[in-house]
Amino acid sequence: MINNEKLLITVRAELKSSALSAYEKNLIQILLDSDQAHIFSNWAPPGEATDEKKALLADLSTVESSYPGGITAYINNARTLLAASKDGVNPFSGYQPEQPDTVDLTSLDDTYSEYEDVAMKNMDKIAVALVAGGLGERLGYPGIKLNIPVETLTETTYIQHYSTVILAMELRTGKPGSVPMIIMTSRDSHEKTMTALTENNFFGLQESQVTILKQELVPAIADNDGHIAMHGPYSVTLKPHGHGDIHMLMHTSGTAERLITDGKQHLLFIQDTNGQVFNAAFAAIGASIKHNLDFNSVAVNRIPGEAVGALTKLNNGDKCITINVEYNQLDPLLRSTVSPEGDVPNEKGFSIFPGNINVLVANLNTYAKVLKDSGGIIAEFVNPKYKDDTRTSFKKPTRLETMMQDLPKLFKSGENVGVTIFDRCWCFSANKNNIIDAKAKHEQGGPPESAATAESDFYLAGRMKLQLAGNTVNEHSEELILGIPFTRGPKVILTPRFALSIGDVKQKIRNLEMSDESTLILDGEDINIDGLKMSGSSALVIRTEKDAKVSIKDKEISNTGFELILLTDDDSSETAPEYLKIRGFKFKNRGAEILEFNTPGNYEV
Ligand code: UTP
Repeated sequence: MINNEKLLITVRAELKSSALSAYEKNLIQILLDSDQAHIFSNWAPPGEATDEKKALLADLSTVESSYPGGITAYINNARTLLAASKDGVNPFSGYQPEQPDTVDLTSLDDTYSEYEDVAMKNMDKIAVALVAGGLGERLGYPGIKLNIPVETLTETTYIQHYSTVILAMELRTGKPGSVPMIIMTSRDSHEKTMTALTENNFFGLQESQVTILKQELVPAIADNDGHIAMHGPYSVTLKPHGHGDIHMLMHTSGTAERLITDGKQHLLFIQDTNGQVFNAAFAAIGASIKHNLDFNSVAVNRIPGEAVGALTKLNNGDKCITINVEYNQLDPLLRSTVSPEGDVPNEKGFSIFPGNINVLVANLNTYAKVLKDSGGIIAEFVNPKYKDDTRTSFKKPTRLETMMQDLPKLFKSGENVGVTIFDRCWCFSANKNNIIDAKAKHEQGGPPESAATAESDFYLAGRMKLQLAGNTVNEHSEELILGIPFTRGPKVILTPRFALSIGDVKQKIRNLEMSDESTLILDGEDINIDGLKMSGSSALVIRTEKDAKVSIKDKEISNTGFELILLTDDDSSETAPEYLKIRGFKFKNRGAEILEFNTPGNYEV
């Protein structure tokens, strides 16, 4: 409550003055009613510093209009969560952890292909949501992460790669524009994402199939009473609300309902820099369909104690939910309930609680219902860093956050929640860390998750697909570049147009033999290989336009291909673009055979 008479007078005068609009004055009143008078404590008299005042109110009006229930609801939620946090309420109290229901697709065998086939037959019922509002502080890239090339041979960026997958999905439906793509941006990424889309003609997608949902920042909270933090007389401190905003925005924008009306049944959630995601996504969608899952998390095997969120079934007798439990919460929970030894390895050395990688598949009907029931606010949490054990003041302002994997926290019981486990480098290799941190992570035995490892794994997935199709692919040994592991070959890029499933590769490539430094890039719908031998550092690139059918039979390739050049050995290293600097190497074409077929027809090579 306002207890400072002078302040009260200033604010009242502000409400009477003509400098601010009726909307702005109403917003001030809402803030006063929520005990936020301190916001105005250093304001100049009415009529002065009007632009600054309007800017501050504009920041808060975005919160008022975007957060369900407005600023008042945000502050009330903050107070409730901060009180629970102060009292040390254990969110898992009364729950027993159990192994979640899993589908194990770590073997890329015939069963795996069956799961993929189920999704392939349901392409017209899938939509894709890409969360791309993150700051990317750990990577420190001077642009949006979506604009970074996944690999540097074709320099296909993440956003382009995801778009080409969607276009390839549409080749299966025969209906251009039929696979919706939802992209969540934020203040930090919105403009650059829009520029990338518009300057590239939406990468071949129809503008109408792309929905952009912009997440807004939320006010930071300074204390347990829910006072909004300030960092100047006219500046409130704003912070990201987390990737769980995708759910809120899917609800408030009506997008979830619209997708259902358009006949979509499953929504796949992906991150901004995971070039591996579509290796596994279709089999995961297949698992959702086959096992009638309301929610399905793509997961990887986890070693006990590994710093990855653990997918856990929690049961308290009344309610049973499968959710992501942070690894540092899992061990104490296990020790205090079912396992005095904590998280222990199974016979294969893995925890029975698989690791969450934030690739999720939601059944849209269940999803829309949960959103409606919750008003779109998905399991917010607060994580204040307290100054001391009294838990009365914070080291720095905190804020409410949401995580997209927390959606099942809102499930009542009875929803069918599953976990589909994949081989890690097949389904996940993100580009999150700068080279210094990536090197340190590697030295500590963890995944570096850097641009170089993401690129290396991208080629690895290509090799795996060729090997699964029975071809001979000799692998080069791993080396360290800037202290980060990289495998220089063979480099294999099978674009989504060429193959979306392992079955596609099996159908199109036979009797291929690749040396450990060779390169193969296939970008076309109708390329067939039966008999191809690539020696030394040879490279073959085939690109086709629509209706150009290319057959390669009993061919031998020997050329100087692509040379890997370390930036440290190169004169131009200082001026190299940032997307190369974050890798430490580049490729130079020294004589790759590049075949382009731009007109329809049948071609034999
Ligand atoms: P990350 O964990 O990679 O976080 O987010 P980040 O914020 O991008 O990077 P750091 O932590 O600052 O280094 C996982 C995914 O969630 C998105 C990111 O864009 C990424 O695709 N995200 C994250 C959002 O869309 N919004 C957010 O508020 C946070």
